[in-house]
Amino acid sequence: MRVLITGCSSGFNLGAARLIARRGHEVFATVRNPATATELRDARDSGLPIHIEALDVRDGEQAHTLMDRIVAGGGVDALVNNAGASIFGPVEATSIDQMRDLMEVNLFGPMRLIQLALPHMRSRRQGRIINVSSLSGIIPLPYVGLYGATKHAFDAMSFSLAAELREFGIKVTIITPSGFKTSITDKLWEPAIAIDDAIYAARTKLVHTKMSIRLDNDPAPVFQLIANVLEDDNPTVRHLIGANAVALASRRRQISDDEWVEHMVAFQNP
Ligand SMILES: NC(=O)c1ccc[n+]([C@@H]2O[C@H](COP(=O)([O-])OP(=O)(O)OC[C@H]3O[C@@H](n4cnc5c(N)ncnc54)[C@H](OP(=O)(O)O)[C@@H]3O)[C@@H](O)[C@H]2O)c1
Repeated sequence: MRVLITGCSSGFNLGAARLIARRGHEVFATVRNPATATELRDARDSGLPIHIEALDVRDGEQAHTLMDRIVAGGGVDALVNNAGASIFGPVEATSIDQMRDLMEVNLFGPMRLIQLALPHMRSRRQGRIINVSSLSGIIPLPYVGLYGATKHAFDAMSFSLAAELREFGIKVTIITPSGFKTSITDKLWEPAIAIDDAIYAARTKLVHTKMSIRLDNDPAPVFQLIANVLEDDNPTVRHLIGANAVALASRRRQISDDEWVEHMVAFQNP
């Protein structure tokens, strides 16, 4: 398979790119800055079939040029939308411009790549789209509401695609990890609006601490799942992965919206 994977400088998809290439697939691994992608370069130089491609998913022209080249060079059998970013803080402290930018990374970027890949996949009546979303897309939590909003939107689009593309033989899968220790935690966007409020300050710190201690340390199960889904002839539409992911998602389904708000209020308190 020829597989285009975004966001391969670190985290889940650095692992996924290497593993998928090791399984014999040709990988087009995108990074924003190829000059700093040393681990990916090492993997390629060790003989793995990896092409390192520059892509900021917010850049439409770059995405067009890249997809045209891959399609012209033999097609794209699978697209793994993994590149993503997160913001941590109160909704009130996030500017509209920041939120637009986050949507560019987490929704419009993947949406554009999907739209670019689909004419080719549709004409061949086959293809795979794997979208790396988040448990935050199912379960709202305080102080990550806007990240969650991008992933809710990503999920909604992905579910619609799964139905719309069925007759074209194109399979869509949503990977839904809970919290894992990757570089996303070091790259969290700071909210743009400074708000001098002791309650926000205390709660932000507390929720951050509570979430940090719940992180899984090893991202390998996530990238193994991505590689397995890629090779699965009949993947289920959503895969939950990570400590308590299944339990939390089912708890959210079982209780009322008001009960969930109470749960969140308890979570943000000592
Ligand atoms: N780790 C978690 O707990 C967790 C949980 C649920 C879902 N997820 C999702 O999993 C995916 C991968 O995250 P990760 O945890 O593996 O974190 P990560 O190590 O930070 O990986 C994120 C990747 O996305 C890239 N990226 C960020 N902004 C980009 C842009 N504008 N254009 C292109 N690439 C961009 C990063 O590249 P740079 O190096 O250039 O920044 C990096 O390669 C994300 O979609 C994230 O939302 C993560």
